[in-house]
Amino acid sequence: MKSLGARRILRWLPWLARGEPGPAGPKSSYDQIAPVPLGQETFDAVLARDKAAKEGIDARQRKLLEERYDLTPRPDPKLKMTRGKPVPVGPAARLPAGMTWETLATLSPDEVREKGLFPPGFLPLPHPTHPVGGMVFPQQEVKALPRLERFDVAFDLPDHFLPEFPPAIFLTTRPDLGDVSNGEVVTIENYYRLFNGILNSKDMEGLRLLVTQFPQQQFNATADRKTERADGMRGVACFDCHVNGHTSGATHLVGDIRPQSHRRRIDTSSLRGVYVQRLFGSQRALKSIEDFTEFEQRAAYFDGDILSAAAKGVNPLERGSQVHFMAEVQELLDFPPAPGLGLDGKLDPKKFAAASPEMKGQALFFGKARCAECHPAPFYTDNLMRDLRVDRFFKPQEINGLMATAQGPLKTFTLRGIKESPPYLHDGRLPTLEDTAEFFNLILELKLDADEKRCLVAFMRQL
Ligand code: HEC
Ligand code: HEC
Repeated sequence: MKSLGARRILRWLPWLARGEPGPAGPKSSYDQIAPVPLGQETFDAVLARDKAAKEGIDARQRKLLEERYDLTPRPDPKLKMTRGKPVPVGPAARLPAGMTWETLATLSPDEVREKGLFPPGFLPLPHPTHPVGGMVFPQQEVKALPRLERFDVAFDLPDHFLPEFPPAIFLTTRPDLGDVSNGEVVTIENYYRLFNGILNSKDMEGLRLLVTQFPQQQFNATADRKTERADGMRGVACFDCHVNGHTSGATHLVGDIRPQSHRRRIDTSSLRGVYVQRLFGSQRALKSIEDFTEFEQRAAYFDGDILSAAAKGVNPLERGSQVHFMAEVQELLDFPPAPGLGLDGKLDPKKFAAASPEMKGQALFFGKARCAECHPAPFYTDNLMRDLRVDRFFKPQEINGLMATAQGPLKTFTLRGIKESPPYLHDGRLPTLEDTAEFFNLILELKLDADEKRCLVAFMRQL
């Protein structure tokens, strides 16, 4: 007896081969089959058309970002990530004409919505090419790993709003070693040299799989792939996005939603500290790292479309000897050290004066600003999903192919190590921690003053 999956694929193969949307019509759950009809166009035809369109696509997204944010780098030389990249300082989001953050925060959600006063940078952020979607890698990363370059679109956010590249690696099992990255991007070429003698042989195999490329929707061998270079056709590795077990800031569209316009842009989550977490994915809520590891290659890599996956060379992982090993390595990845925190995960009172911005920020975080209701110490997550109902503040609208509307419950991400993982929220719409303070001040209707918001950010930078 054939499995249900195999029978479905067989039923769809004639449509797939002809490149038609399938028997249920264009608005079906299957409308992502072969975004460029497989077998109908040659690779050269796709390449020529996409290359000609690229400039216009990049320019459209650049214009959107400039309308939303002040993109000028404003690094504070005193604020550094572990390996020295300056932490971006904001807020970068632009205010509607004639508004201040303080006046805006006095308005009710209804007033903000009716008068169209929600800062455009607080609206859901579309993917750099929303109607096509797929994995897009930051420019600083493409420079180091040219096989990750797409010919149809470039990554949109500037490097100064992204995590450092490459980031540090801390292991829960070997804190005595500090950063074990040696300042290198861990790939198939150096993982053995870097980790031999630090991990056991089982974890060495797990790590090998995490840095091995496997086919994906845009990075594979079919005619609708989006990489010109032949070596890009081998696919992507988990650690291409989760570079060094953290994140490069690479973006994607979530696989679970249809139609395409409703799919959310997603910013690669850090894998640091997944060992304390209970839900995985911003909305999927898979219950274990093993499940997520399996799901990434089987579904997320192919936009949740099992038919594309079959056509492009899905790599099913074996649960006992591959998934488990890969998950074990991810569970060893620690947050960066936070020397300002005591054993309870709160500021060590011996290190901060009672009147310091950090201490005032902590008091606000656990009190008036209500952050700790969802982000409790010591890991600053409640391990739940919460619906912030951001849609109270804006009318449904289309933005570069994205339908911005109600988004539903999302994972409460941990705030440990948060200064090292800009941009913020599941879609990366907030470039700096100052933007998050303004965002939550508005969403939670807190009416904090400028000094209180400054203190809240000073506290978050200690986590
Ligand atoms: C586009 C680059 C990309 C690649 C390649 C990739 N991921 Fe992810 N990963 C993401 C994004 C984006 C998310 C956030 C998903 C969401 O918001 O629903 C994520 C989420 C996760 C999570 C859940 C984290 C959390 O905090 O909830 C785990 C675990 C994970 N990935 C593991 C893997 C593994 C294992 C692989 C390789 C099989 C892999 N990823 C490959 C981009 C990537
Ligand atoms: C009702 C629950 C709730 C409260 C209260 C809350 N948050 Fe959050 N927080 C969330 C959720 C849910 C997300 C993820 C939202 C998303 O991705 O769209 C989040 C995300 C964040 C992020 C981005 C995390 C990341 O990795 O991108 C920061 C920073 C943050 N919150 C700070 C705060 C601060 C500061 C406060 C208090 C002023 C606060 N939060 C209050 C639920 C809450």
